[in-house]
Amino acid sequence: MIDKVIQIAKEAGAIVREGFGQNFMIETKGSLTNLVTEYDKKSEKEIINYIKKEFSSHSVLAEESGNHKSGSEYLWVIDPLDGTTNFAHGLPIFSVSIGVQKIGQTICGVVYDVMRDALYSAELGGGAFCNGRKLHVNHNSDIRKSVLVTGFPYNISENPDHAFEHFIAFLKNARAVRRLGSAAIDFCYTAEGVFDGFWEVFLHPWDMCAGKLLVEEAGGIVTDFNGNEINIFSKQILATNRLIHNEMISILNEKY
Ligand code: IPD
Ligand code: CA
Ligand code: CA
Repeated sequence: MIDKVIQIAKEAGAIVREGFGQNFMIETKGSLTNLVTEYDKKSEKEIINYIKKEFSSHSVLAEESGNHKSGSEYLWVIDPLDGTTNFAHGLPIFSVSIGVQKIGQTICGVVYDVMRDALYSAELGGGAFCNGRKLHVNHNSDIRKSVLVTGFPYNISENPDHAFEHFIAFLKNARAVRRLGSAAIDFCYTAEGVFDGFWEVFLHPWDMCAGKLLVEEAGGIVTDFNGNEINIFSKQILATNRLIHNEMISILNEKY
């Protein structure tokens, strides 16, 4: 199955790459900060058509078209373009993210970092890879030497879950904090050891399904802000190299 997931992620990525920098339609979803372009839709259509052809009995949960339920034990969780704001503004950091679950457990995950042509993939129990190279989280145990990454939900102006305070606290404690604009890529870089940790609130299942498995298969850990196990519907994610996990949890739980 993983080979087919990789194939369709690359095909969808090629469609998105072709559209990058061109004139395309941009619409808003509810607020001026939440965008969707015609390439989000084109990419999703390509992926769903492929699943319908190759795995016609499987269920699908996709960002732009929602639930396509079939009663199957397999569920494909799809973000056809993660990093739409970057894409729409000409910033070349965006991805296609596809996770496949069997009875609620993610069994494979693929994130295609389109403009770097970097294909991240993981199978449950089989390790994580980028373009065939095995990935491992880094070995840093000192938060003061860490580079962290985060993202903000589209309702960040309401400061959900102390998002502003957490950002400031990590700026003060870490070597640096980055905000790339594609949660799926944030997971990949954490799996690869580029980032030591990634935290965010209010992600959606399609933002994290593949990425969570990638981090876990690279030796990292993904929990909520209290260290509890999470599923793809969780509203808090903390993904780290394990070694700075407890310290990040302490900072996230300071009194603000
Ligand atoms: C967004 C990106 C971003 C994250 C947002 C997501 P989208 O996904 O992953 O990094 O901070 O919360 O919604 O809308 O570009 O697919
Ligand atoms: Ca997304
Ligand atoms: Ca998206």
